[in-house]
Amino acid sequence: MDEYLEFLKSRRSIRRFKSEPPPRELILRAIDTARYAPSAKNSQPWRFIIVDDPDLKSKLANIHLSARPLYDAPLAIVVVCQIDESPTSYMLDCANATLYLLLALHALGLGAVWIQALRNIEEVKQALSIPNNAIPVAIIAVGYPDETPQPRPRKPLSEIVYLNKYGKSYM
Ligand SMILES: Cc1cc2nc3c(=O)[nH]c(=O)nc-3n(C[C@H](O)[C@H](O)[C@H](O)COP(=O)(O)O)c2cc1C
Repeated sequence: MDEYLEFLKSRRSIRRFKSEPPPRELILRAIDTARYAPSAKNSQPWRFIIVDDPDLKSKLANIHLSARPLYDAPLAIVVVCQIDESPTSYMLDCANATLYLLLALHALGLGAVWIQALRNIEEVKQALSIPNNAIPVAIIAVGYPDETPQPRPRKPLSEIVYLNKYGKSYM
């Protein structure tokens, strides 16, 4: 159990990748695991578009400045959500699947970073022919890591854990 908690803490956003593309089986294993994320009424409103076409990948890398890791990554996985399959919770459901995907990729020795898609929804939809009733929730840049970043700082527990009332210290 301790090992599992350490595993969760050891995930980092990876933004530099080796050029070697990860094998298809690893990508499918990671997505297979992401399917086990919780979703409202088990609606599973997620879809996954694997993007390895260099032109499409460059288009995604250009949507904003922080999308640049996509240039380096041999592939991207775009998490798309079917709004009609979970009208009140689709964003949460698909965020859960995205996080499961990041953790599964980490378990398989792959590096990944979540690239913001929500400010560029129309651009991404157009590039990938995503229909009107679906929304690209996240773009994940994926590949073998070519960096070992230090952990980013976390807020202390004393700042974020309350007892009974918002703001009342638990520590
Ligand atoms: C909703 C969301 C959007 C993010 N967008 C980007 C992004 O566009 N580009 C990027 O390089 N990292 C992005 N990140 C990664 C965060 O910067 C990263 O998770 C955070 O700094 C903590 O670092 P860690 O993942 O290594 O723990 C995003 C993460 C989330 C959850």
